[in-house]
Amino acid sequence: MKRIEEIFQTNKEWIQEKLAIDSNYFENLSKGQTPEFLYIGCSDSRVTAEELMGLQPGEAFIHRNIANLVNNVDLNVMSVLEYAVKYLKVNHIIVCGHYNCGGIKAAMEAKDLGILNPWLRNVRDVYRLHKEELGAITDEQTRYNRLVELNVQEQCVNIIKTAVVQQAYHDREITVHGWVFDMYTGRLVNLEIDFPKILAGIEEIYNLYGDSSLTS
Ligand code: CO
Repeated sequence: MKRIEEIFQTNKEWIQEKLAIDSNYFENLSKGQTPEFLYIGCSDSRVTAEELMGLQPGEAFIHRNIANLVNNVDLNVMSVLEYAVKYLKVNHIIVCGHYNCGGIKAAMEAKDLGILNPWLRNVRDVYRLHKEELGAITDEQTRYNRLVELNVQEQCVNIIKTAVVQQAYHDREITVHGWVFDMYTGRLVNLEIDFPKILAGIEEIYNLYGDSSLTS
């Protein structure tokens, strides 16, 4: 119980720290949220969203799950996306994967993981989509890292497949970003995904509004 008591003690100290800087801090915080960012990341305890981005309460709407997946039948992530884009009107959607991701690793192995099977099947499907590129990588660590990156890429594409994001592209400035947190160095890496290039040839399949381009 000691660790739990410590958490409540730390909370008291945090309140005092915030109030020392701004006596209206919590009053203002409770008025509402207008976050600029939607962050979708892995649940991994080492990949702390706000801390690694240097953001304060109110600045990012956060969704985390194992292997940072954006599955189109997952009501949880789809609700987060809908709310963040349609109502909070975030300007940036970030999918942040990380090297050394246990979820990605598990999906690369011949292992029955029970209820995790259907979830991680999404990662196996990413592997299948990029089998040629991944199969050509002989070094296992390099292949593992690359799958982490390609998984981020595919989840970004999944975001662009949704109606709410396609509508937002028409109405205002909104950008999808694919990042990886490199926990070996602490560095946040922008994958600088070329969406027009990736979407070329598949846009007509996923376009819900019959336009020529999904991203502009
Ligand atoms: Co992970």
